[in-house]
Amino acid sequence: MAGLQKSFIREILKVTESPDVISFAGGLPNPRFFPVEEIKEACSRVLKEHGREALQYRTTEGFLPLREQIADRYALHGVHVSPDQILITTGSQQGIDLVGKIFLNEGDRVVLERPSYLGAIQALGLYQPKFRVVTLEDEGCDVEELRSQALTGLKLMYSVPNFQNPSGISYSVSRREEAAEVLAQTNAVFLEDDPYGELRFRGVRAASMRKFLKDQAILLGSFSKVVSPGLRLGWIAAGAAVMEKLIIAKQASDLHSSSLEQRVVHRYLLDNDLDTHLSRIRIAYGRQRDAMVHMLDTYCPTGVTCTRPEGGMFLWVTLPPGISSMNLFNLAVKENVAFVPGHPFYVDGGGDSTLRLNFSNTDEARIEEGIKRLGRAMCRLLEQGTPVTRPSAK
Ligand SMILES: Cc1ncc(COP(=O)(O)O)c(C=O)c1O
Repeated sequence: MAGLQKSFIREILKVTESPDVISFAGGLPNPRFFPVEEIKEACSRVLKEHGREALQYRTTEGFLPLREQIADRYALHGVHVSPDQILITTGSQQGIDLVGKIFLNEGDRVVLERPSYLGAIQALGLYQPKFRVVTLEDEGCDVEELRSQALTGLKLMYSVPNFQNPSGISYSVSRREEAAEVLAQTNAVFLEDDPYGELRFRGVRAASMRKFLKDQAILLGSFSKVVSPGLRLGWIAAGAAVMEKLIIAKQASDLHSSSLEQRVVHRYLLDNDLDTHLSRIRIAYGRQRDAMVHMLDTYCPTGVTCTRPEGGMFLWVTLPPGISSMNLFNLAVKENVAFVPGHPFYVDGGGDSTLRLNFSNTDEARIEEGIKRLGRAMCRLLEQGTPVTRPSAK
């Protein structure tokens, strides 16, 4: 623990607390879509009908009817897992930690995408593996890089194949097949983290890697982006042998996730149509994403590019080479707009000219104003021709 540093993003989020700042920095869903009334209704029904059970200690695996609902939803998307292959967790973040806990010894090789989700770098990093990286291209990870990593006794690969945080990139069908073909020749675990798959506002859903890798793939899911992150409910889907160990690890961590909240979400899903709810979120996020892309195209100087995701919550911006997003951050804050510089998402360093923008938590009018401000800061920075500097702390 002695070597751990403060989270750089947490430091950034302090800057964004002022109401004058338009923040594209946090990874927050839009609270406008939190089903407050429906959750209130579900809470009161649960307490009225099953109050004593809901307030009691329960099993580590989680509330069976909720696990059945999750299994049914997977089946709709062509993923076949039984309820006993599902463990309810305290957010998918706990899922990452538990998988790290049962699989990783110090020095084990773990492949991450480059860039990768900061929470995974943090959670898996505590088990002191040797991180290796594979470049994330427009259609998914670089398979040749993965092939060379696979030859070195790989233990685990962590990936977000749909609308990745931070880049917004998704794996194409063929890239999934190619990556699976490489991984199938190893004993490595493929940890597929999918909190954003249901937030597709355009295009067609691609198959989970579990289709190709079967039990070699462990899936993580979450209610955070589809219902509410404050509930802290997610899950792990894994084969029987792994599940046994995960249950032991979770029991040691927190006995079980909140039984009240599990019942509330179960009740909410019974009494409401999740797809109707999701379609509202998808329409709004699709519009917000379009507004952000359009404004970036309009107000950013030549040489600035961004990803154009078909879902999720993030865009990834690349500045011209040699232009530092950290320096841009300092100018942007003066313009009252914030984002996350890309460098902390790279475990092996680099990413200095990249940055993450969140589009889910800001409405279209503020996106327009925020990107105008960002464009102004970019123009100023490019005029200065500022050299690359890196943040000192992750
Ligand atoms: C890729 C990814 N995995 C996991 C999480 C954690 O989500 P949860 O709220 O389910 O713990 C996040 C949160 O932003 C995320 O982006």
